[in-house]
Formats: sequence, structure tokens, C-alpha cells
Amino acid sequence: MSKNMQHRCFLLALCGWAVFMLLLVSKFITLSVRDKEGRSVYGTKPHILDQNVTKYVEIKPQEHTDDQPSQSTLTEVDPDWDAVHAERLNLLNNVCRNTSLRNLTHSPISNFVLDRIFVCDKHKILFCQTPKVGNTQWKKVLIVLNGEFKSIEDIPEPLIHNHEKNGLPRLSTYSEPEITKRLNTYFKFFIVRDPFERLISAFKDKFLKNPRFEPWYRYNIAPAIIQKYRRNRTETKGLQFDDFTRYVGDPNHKWLDIKIGKPIIHWATYVELCAPCEIKYNVIGHHETLEKDAPYILKKAGISNLISYPPIPPGITAYNRTKVKQYFSGISKRDIKRLDARFQGDFKLFGYDEPDFLLT
Ligand SMILES: *[C@@H]1O[C@H](CO)[C@@H](O)[C@H](O)[C@H]1NC(C)=O
Ligand SMILES: *[C@@H]1O[C@H](CO)[C@@H](O)[C@H](O)[C@H]1NC(C)=O
Ligand SMILES: *[C@@H]1O[C@H](CO)[C@@H](O)[C@H](O)[C@H]1NC(C)=O
Ligand SMILES: *[C@@H]1O[C@H](CO)[C@@H](O)[C@H](O)[C@H]1NC(C)=O
Repeated sequence: MSKNMQHRCFLLALCGWAVFMLLLVSKFITLSVRDKEGRSVYGTKPHILDQNVTKYVEIKPQEHTDDQPSQSTLTEVDPDWDAVHAERLNLLNNVCRNTSLRNLTHSPISNFVLDRIFVCDKHKILFCQTPKVGNTQWKKVLIVLNGEFKSIEDIPEPLIHNHEKNGLPRLSTYSEPEITKRLNTYFKFFIVRDPFERLISAFKDKFLKNPRFEPWYRYNIAPAIIQKYRRNRTETKGLQFDDFTRYVGDPNHKWLDIKIGKPIIHWATYVELCAPCEIKYNVIGHHETLEKDAPYILKKAGISNLISYPPIPPGITAYNRTKVKQYFSGISKRDIKRLDARFQGDFKLFGYDEPDFLLT
């Protein structure tokens, strides 16, 4: 072989290797979830999104305009983010210590709370689940980290919420000393969003769309709520948002949990779900800033070199005041105030403005 030939062979091999590495890297970066049509989906299903979901779902994550978060932000950590999170924890600690808010901010570390917390022993992480805040993606990340599946795409849909089989155990399944050890030493986090937006999302998800084929909500829960809270007895429509808000804002709302024998997690407060004043969480992510919080959490948990958070379609995390106004436009001020009172702890602990604009 001539020197020239050798040289060409070497170049060819080099090119091949580079192409292979590029493919590998791009596969690693786009740990995106695909639905049947091959579209990128945020959450297990588009239902956790708002009405405009189909529009968002079709936007390819790569195509972003300047004012929208680009995909690359998901691996970059904002240098200011340490300060932002220090401030969040500082606020939380101050509100937790405020004795006049005690009933609204404190919650025992009950079995119910331990059931909400998922364990990644391999990387010493605890994640408290707060429904309607895009938690499914975090669960997928942790399932992959625990090693049961190689990549997010490999997790079969039905297994994501099957914690006996998906290798992501609940903290409640450990013995008491094992629980204490994990609470004291693991990295702990959870995600919150504006409490009223979360309620809208819960209402849409459980009563309008019902995508996980949970007939229970439509055929058991909805009629029970209607029977107790509907004003207009001749109205025969399915559960309306005003029926729902009267139920959730009722100081005696627990009657329904008692009737069905367990608390419904989808509209329980963050305080009830995660006991944020009792458990010392390291990071509290905000859905509204998920583009910055997701890479920050991965970095702080020490796993940013192992996995990335799936791409977030542009626009879906931002707080939508117009939507909140629209949903609450038919709700009486008394009912809004009751709802606000129930979620007051959540508003105050996590720095969300109480929705005064709904009361003027
Ligand atoms: C405690 O909370 C109440 C009600 O929000 C507030 O008026 C008061 O200023 C708070 N106290 C402290 C010390 O922050
Ligand atoms: C807090 O809860 C306790 C026990 O449930 C009750 O006795 C007390 O009146 C409550 N305090 C406030 C300020 O609501
Ligand atoms: C009650 O609902 C019925 C059926 O939708 C409607 O025709 C009627 O106007 C409603 N009454 C009031 C007072 O809103
Ligand atoms: C906010 O919500 C309104 C009403 O649901 C909707 O028309 C609008 O497109 C939403 N805006 C964004 C930026 O998603």
C-alpha cells in the first residue's frame, strides 16, 4: 500500500468514527419521549398540558425562536441559580417558622407522605411526587438511574406508575431506621407550580380528559361532588369547575377522602403531600422555571453527567394568567377566598402571589 493510500484509509476511518460518535452523542442528548406518531411528548401523555397541547406537541424541540428556551438550556446551569434556590429555601424556612401559619404549613411525616416519596438508592436521591406538575418525567429519569431500564424510551408506558415492577420504590416500603437514614443523608427534591394553575390542571385531567382511563373519577368522584355542591339542581351537565372549586375549598372537604377510604392526591396541598417544613429538602424546583431548574437539580444531585431531562416543548411551563382568569371568571368571590385559604400555605411557602386579581 502506498503512503497516499494509507493516508486515505486513515482519513476514511477517522470520518466514520466521528460520524458514529456524533450519532451516539445526539442519541444521548435527545432522551425525548415519543408517542405512537413519533411526536415529542412532554409528560407521559399530552393530557397534563393545556388545551393548546396539540399545537405544542408538534413543535420540534430543535426549532426555537430567540425568546423561547432552547433545548441547550436543559444542560446548562444558570450561574445565578444557586442564589435563586438559596432564596427559595430561606423563604420556606421563614414561613415554616411563622407560628400564625402553623396549621397551614406543617404536616406530620406520615405514611401518606412516605408513599409520595420515591427512592433512588444508587445515587442517593429522594423525590417527592406532586401530581399535575410534570412529575412523570422525573420518575422516568429516576427509573433509568436506578438501572431497571437503559433509557427513558425503553420504559414501557404501563410500568411508569407501577412501583412494584419499575425499580423505583416508595420510601414507605423501607424499615423505620432505613427511612430515617435516607431522609437524613439523601439529596431530596420536589417540584411545585402555581397552586391555582395546578387545580385547573387537575380538574381538566381527571374530569374533562380522563386520559388514563380512570373511569373512577368520572363515575364515582364527580357524581359525589355534584350531589353535595351543585347549586342548580336542574342542571344535568357533568362536573363543572364551579362544583369542583366549592368542593376543594370546603373546609370540611375531607368527607370525600373518608368516604372512599384514602386521600385523593391530585388536589392535596404540597404541605400534605411532601411535608416541606418537616423534611429538609435540598432543592425545590418551580414548574415555571423548569428549563433552569431541571439542569440545576441534575447537577446538585450529582447526576448531570449520567442523564439529561427530556426536552421541554417551548411555552408550556410559563404561568398563564389569562387561563386562570378564564377558569375563575364564573366562580364567586366567596368560593375563591375559601380556595385561597386552603392553599394559603402553598402560596406562602413557595413564594407564589395570591391571586388578588381574581378578587377585584
Ligand atoms: C406570619 O404570617 C402572617 C400571615 O401571613 C404575617 O402577617 C406575618 O407578618 C408573618 N410573621 C412573620 C414574622 O413573618
Ligand atoms: C390549628 O389546629 C389546631 C388543631 O387542629 C386547632 O385547635 C387550632 O385552632 C388551629 N389554629 C388555627 C389558627 O387555625
Ligand atoms: C339551571 O340549569 C338549567 C339547565 O341547564 C337551566 O335551564 C336554568 O336556566 C338554570 N337555572 C339557573 C337559575 O341558572
Ligand atoms: C393562555 O391561556 C389562554 C386561554 O386558555 C390561551 O388562549 C392562550 O393561548 C394561553 N397562552 C399561552 C402563552 O399559552
